[in-house]
Amino acid sequence: MDEKNWELLNNLKVGIVGCGHLGQAIAQVLVEQGLKKENLLISYRGDPLTYQSLKIKGLTPCLTTNQNIFREAGIVLITIKPQDILGLKEDVASSKGLIVSCMAGTSIELLNQILKADVYRMMFSGPDTILSGKGVAAMFPENEYLKLLLCSINLTHIQTMTESDLDIFTAGVCMTAALLQTDDLPGHRKAIIRIGSEYPLFAELFDWAVKVLPSFHKEADKELYIKKMVTKGGVTAAVINSLTSGEPLDTALRKGIARTKEISIETQQSLS
Ligand SMILES: NC(=O)c1ccc[n+]([C@@H]2O[C@H](COP(=O)([O-])OP(=O)(O)OC[C@H]3O[C@@H](n4cnc5c(N)ncnc54)[C@H](OP(=O)(O)O)[C@@H]3O)[C@@H](O)[C@H]2O)c1
Repeated sequence: MDEKNWELLNNLKVGIVGCGHLGQAIAQVLVEQGLKKENLLISYRGDPLTYQSLKIKGLTPCLTTNQNIFREAGIVLITIKPQDILGLKEDVASSKGLIVSCMAGTSIELLNQILKADVYRMMFSGPDTILSGKGVAAMFPENEYLKLLLCSINLTHIQTMTESDLDIFTAGVCMTAALLQTDDLPGHRKAIIRIGSEYPLFAELFDWAVKVLPSFHKEADKELYIKKMVTKGGVTAAVINSLTSGEPLDTALRKGIARTKEISIETQQSLS
């Protein structure tokens, strides 16, 4: 990427609230590609295993409080689970930067209501695809700084026209895990033909998933790849559960979309 663009991102500073699987992959690749560590601000909730993992990746010098992240970073990516969002309410108040939810499901309307701030949404493919530079991401609404961020870490930006497209994208990027989970490429192709006319984005993401699918020598490595994509109670989990119960990929993807909507409703209900 152009040196000037890195200068801009370093000037802005990037914050990542919640460095679990997704947050760590983004943090790692940002530093690898040229963001100075002093301009990356990250947080986690306190799990010692997370700290260990951050230490191995050399990211502990970037750790700070959520309050500092919102106060100092020009772009703040929220990569926690939707059920934890209420915990950020007070810290968000000090933010002057772009607040970007990377959480599956939770709608902008609901995020505005909870955080009392303008929020963008971004969705990413799984951590391994991000680290290998083969990942894809989508955002809503579109924003030039966020496009620059994606470009800086070599992620392909997939255009989405509406917020609903983002939910379809969220289910669609689970396809790398889905294809690894059940070894039936011809069956999956037929399923994508069935669902592709209703959701063309699935056809696009299926082609991407087939192209970037890694091969593993050890079963354990494959399981770890899938595990890093599965947020408990999340969309990938819904897609994988459907496939393992014998349903075809098109049904699994529909269940993935349905799960995004349920997540939003569950988050809404947790407010009352
Ligand atoms: N994994 C994926 O492939 C993927 C892809 C796209 C989108 N997403 C979305 O990304 C989000 C995270 O998924 P994940 O799989 O990365 O989950 P995860 O591994 O469980 O990570 C969540 C992280 O959030 C931290 N956290 C929770 N509350 C916090 C708070 N108040 N302040 C700071 N940190 C806090 C946790 O800290 P501790 O470790 O200390 O508990 C944990 O590290 C989900 O909303 C999911 O929908 C995930």
